[in-house]
Amino acid sequence: MAERILTGIKPTGQLTLGNYIGVLKHLPKEVDRGECFYFIADLHALTLPIDPEVLRQNSIDLACFYMAAGLDTSKVTLFLQSSVSAHAEMNAIMQNYLYMGELSRMTQFKDKSAKMKESAIGLGLFAYPVLMASDIILYDASIVPVGEDQKQHVELTRDLVNRFNNRYGDILTMPKPEMRKVGARIMSLSDPSKKMSKSDPKGDIFLKDDLAVIRKKIMSAVTDSGSEVKYDVENKPGISNLLTIYASLKDISIEEAEEEFVGYRYGDFKKAVADVVVNELEAFQKKYREILESKAYEKVLVEGAKKANEVANKTLNRVKKAVGLLSL
Ligand code: TYM
Repeated sequence: MAERILTGIKPTGQLTLGNYIGVLKHLPKEVDRGECFYFIADLHALTLPIDPEVLRQNSIDLACFYMAAGLDTSKVTLFLQSSVSAHAEMNAIMQNYLYMGELSRMTQFKDKSAKMKESAIGLGLFAYPVLMASDIILYDASIVPVGEDQKQHVELTRDLVNRFNNRYGDILTMPKPEMRKVGARIMSLSDPSKKMSKSDPKGDIFLKDDLAVIRKKIMSAVTDSGSEVKYDVENKPGISNLLTIYASLKDISIEEAEEEFVGYRYGDFKKAVADVVVNELEAFQKKYREILESKAYEKVLVEGAKKANEVANKTLNRVKKAVGLLSL
């Protein structure tokens, strides 16, 4: 069987440059390696309170973003998670093979729930990695491109696959998280000790931001003491983050980026980073608007759901049979 590559993005807020550099930008090329399944993780978006209209709009936006990144939609299966009911069914089965202790150790759960009252933490937020594991195993995915913050969830999926296969035989495919060498964790521009994230508007670059705003955000990014443009995460986290952004958008190594900026002042360096980001996002935003206006995403999502349902139901049936659920 050809290698299967799967990933999902949650339509919880506006997508950031972190999502773009960490994953989105690289998805079109994956078709050369195998069969690609990319989806809008809308069920996951319900794990924290979200206005229904906002969820609808974000989901449409996300479909357009995926397409604007340059996916060949005749080769890639792009779909809404909620259009494939097998995700919920697989979740119902798999929740019995992951344990409370494991789930409560997940960094993302700890971070998110730390800011909430216990009485307001939904079961879905706690059980989030079960659904994510179900997403992955349903498509027999062997490669899961993600940013660094999702690595732990994919590792947990690997534990689940081991556990399940030890008990029932060789039923599930073992997935592997795959992270970019450069850009797996883009940091906030206002606080480079924190990840750039959809829920933290300060220091974020949103993919839909006005280009002038993007330029301004980069020009006012926090830099560090000293004056040399050098990659040194410990002592120069701000400059290192900007170098990472530059290198990944130019598809060069960090060392090559450093070489380009020998002798530059911080201000001129930032201007060069802003030029590259604005240049990339200008073309991206144009494509996004065209796809949004033409509603080209509708047909793609309908056809994607058909294909995804076929593949997912096959795996679901295999799993149901393995655990002893009758299908008459
Ligand atoms: P989400 O929606 O938070 O993020 C989407 C992808 O972007 C990556 N990412 C980043 N990469 C680099 N720098 C950053 N600052 C940054 N912020 C986010 C994330 O690591 C992710 O790859 N649980 C997932 C969605 C999901 C999923 C799946 C992914 C649901 N089911 C199955 C893979 C496989 C999430 O919330 O990603």
